[in-house]
Amino acid sequence: METTLIILKPDAVQRGLMGRILSRFEDKGLQIVGCKMIRISQQTAERHYESHKGKPFYNGLVAFMTSSPVLVLAIRGVGAIAMCRKMMGATFGSNAEAGTIRGDFGVSNSFNLIHGSDSPEAASRELEIFFGAGEVLDWDRAGEKWIYDLSGGAPE
Ligand code: RTP
Ligand code: MG
Repeated sequence: METTLIILKPDAVQRGLMGRILSRFEDKGLQIVGCKMIRISQQTAERHYESHKGKPFYNGLVAFMTSSPVLVLAIRGVGAIAMCRKMMGATFGSNAEAGTIRGDFGVSNSFNLIHGSDSPEAASRELEIFFGAGEVLDWDRAGEKWIYDLSGGAPE
């Protein structure tokens, strides 16, 4: 099982799309193990996007991410990191595939609704930035045996 860090960005919250985007992950069968609405601080936004420091879009990105509340999620499943990235679609709303979150809900390149960790290393780094001890919950889903084939001992 992998856990990934997803952020519904200020535009998703302001446009009232939180529920519809969250539903896509629940509908898929992924498990929500952390969820909170926060206003990201300047320091946290800079730390989260530190790999982009110095790029032309960095200052605007940090300003956008701190401009209004966001919904931060920890989402779990087998292969959840790549799966969520696929569900998000390409970075720019203008060319994201139909059927993806960015492709279906947005047209803008910088206001692109959602962030998702892009590797296991990024996921563990980012989860630590946004969730404190005890804020990611390990909980048993009642319907787990109908989400995954557990007959072999491991989720399939
Ligand atoms: P994210 O980190 O937010 O999940 O997005 P991503 O992996 O698809 O894209 P990334 O290359 O990591 O870029 C981070 C965010 O910066 C903005 N951006 N603007 N104007 C530009 O050329 C440009 N490039 C990136 C986007 O908001 C992107 O999500
Ligand atoms: Mg990225």
